[in-house]
Amino acid sequence: MPPELAGSGISPARGFMAEHAHYDDDLGFWEAHADRLGGPVCDLGAAAGRVTVRIAARGHEVWAVDTDPEMLAVLMERAAADGVQSRVHAIAGSMTDPLPVRDAGLVAVPMNTLQLLLDPADRLTCLRMAADALRPGGEMIFDLAMPHIEVTAELRGCLLDTGHSVDPGNGDLLMHGAMFDEVDIASGDVALRLLIERIHPDGSRTSVERAHRLHLYSPEEIPPLAEQAGLRVVSVAGGFHDEPLTPDAERHVWRLAKDPA
Ligand SMILES: C[S@@+](CC[C@H](N)C(=O)[O-])C[C@H]1O[C@@H](n2cnc3c(N)ncnc32)[C@H](O)[C@@H]1O
Repeated sequence: MPPELAGSGISPARGFMAEHAHYDDDLGFWEAHADRLGGPVCDLGAAAGRVTVRIAARGHEVWAVDTDPEMLAVLMERAAADGVQSRVHAIAGSMTDPLPVRDAGLVAVPMNTLQLLLDPADRLTCLRMAADALRPGGEMIFDLAMPHIEVTAELRGCLLDTGHSVDPGNGDLLMHGAMFDEVDIASGDVALRLLIERIHPDGSRTSVERAHRLHLYSPEEIPPLAEQAGLRVVSVAGGFHDEPLTPDAERHVWRLAKDPA
């Protein structure tokens, strides 16, 4: 069922912040790297500005790129509410397009967003565009889910309980679930549905589904991509707090630098 027909009818853009209110462990990481590298910053796949607004609040100019104009409208509403709209530039476009800013200190791609590029050629294009936009010494930083692809394949069709959160806007309790409908072990491509049940304060319930097709990267894929794009791997960690990357880590977090010519 297309997501807009399922349950509550809240669009991905309007539902984004509430549906991700429980995902905040990375915010200090992005703020610290923006402060270390300096602006301008480009936030690729910025969605509703979860990271953009936080970085702009620290005084940096941020170019927020997203293919979804409604996400960008929500992002600008949030930037205005926080009084940072003069430093935020919302750009409708793809992360495979030339970036809208030059001499960037940081190109950030938070929350697994590179996984949305299903065509391998697009992955290289995205890194090349970031390399073009960075100033020497600048960095492209992104996090990706660890694939755990065999386990993921075994879980295909199972409803996974991924926790709960509260919508700060109206007090709804959000119960989060996920289901992998397709898992291609050879390519790492998967079809994933996020299932969110809202329990309203009066006890009534509505539900919404968010369907995604994703590429789950193995850590081995990144160094050759970086090299082809002209970026140097500075580090890879197993989380946002410099955890070592171990096989059972939840994510891999990459820093790629543009070296002086
Ligand atoms: C997982 S959300 C991003 C979350 C956001 N980075 C954050 O940290 O809150 C993915 C976003 O990528 C956008 N998107 C999908 N394909 C894209 C593309 N090719 N270029 C830019 N944005 C894209 C979607 O519209 C969506 O807003």
